[in-house]
Amino acid sequence: MLDAVLRGLAMQPAGTYVDCTYGRGGHASAILERLGDRGRLVVFDRDPEAIGAARKRFDGDARVGCVHGPFSRIAAEVRGLGLGSVHGILFDLGVSSPQLDDGERGFSFQHDGRLDMRFDPGSGIAAADWLKRAPEREISDVLKRFGEERHARRIARAIVRTRSEAPLTRTRQLSELIVSAVPTRERHKHPATRTFQAIRIHINAELEELESALPEAMDILAPGGRLAVISFHSLEDRIVKRFMRNEARGGDYPRGLPGAGPLHPPRLKIVSKATRPDEDEIISNPRARSAVLRVAERI
Ligand SMILES: C[S@@+](CC[C@H](N)C(=O)[O-])C[C@H]1O[C@@H](n2cnc3c(N)ncnc32)[C@H](O)[C@@H]1O
Repeated sequence: MLDAVLRGLAMQPAGTYVDCTYGRGGHASAILERLGDRGRLVVFDRDPEAIGAARKRFDGDARVGCVHGPFSRIAAEVRGLGLGSVHGILFDLGVSSPQLDDGERGFSFQHDGRLDMRFDPGSGIAAADWLKRAPEREISDVLKRFGEERHARRIARAIVRTRSEAPLTRTRQLSELIVSAVPTRERHKHPATRTFQAIRIHINAELEELESALPEAMDILAPGGRLAVISFHSLEDRIVKRFMRNEARGGDYPRGLPGAGPLHPPRLKIVSKATRPDEDEIISNPRARSAVLRVAERI
């Protein structure tokens, strides 16, 4: 959805843009190509490998600033770089292809590797350490909440039973355990998909990150500036949709109550509600299948 993102950001050559999720830099490079000498781009990634690659790629380009850290710090970091308000902010949430393809990062049930799953392996706790200690109830709640996994209790029970015999340290161990614990199959979905997604979201506090970052983004967005967010599952998209809707109507007030009015003047105008990739894009990049782009403009 590169074209839709670039259109959504309504790019100005002398504008300042923030790519909150550098990944392997596809969006960042396209943004930079459209910036002139006075334009600025700040890129974030929590993953030291991703941000290391960004530093290397943009070395010597004074227009670009690279920040290793969570995007929930967007406002402070952007101000710290001496930039005032910005003209566009992009979030392309989730995992990057290099992260999924490197088995040792632990994100994929399709490759064997250490059960880590941290975007930043230098902070927080690895999935294996969480699975070693978490009570069965907590594991089951995480799988239900972040993976919408119907068999959460069954899988949590199997995890606790297995770890009492040997620690769960590898992605393959976890994925095989799930395959044998889950009695039914969803079409076109590996039985471990939901569990891996849930553990990753929990380990990286992904929804909390998004909930904190969106209001921060508003604080640094210039009037007329654009906020573009690509989400990959309904939990993220729900947060984005609700945030944009509330900001577009001036607060989270209950609808239909007599006398209920906006809590504050609307701060966003919705530009595009939910853009999804077309069939051609899905064929060339099957991982884009569940992507949804939403764009709003700061009033
Ligand atoms: C889907 S990829 C982005 C792909 C990128 N747009 C591109 O064109 O290559 C998501 C990236 O966001 C990073 N990420 C996820 N959560 C983050 C957070 N809270 N703060 C900073 N980076 C984060 C991940 O490490 C990953 O590299």
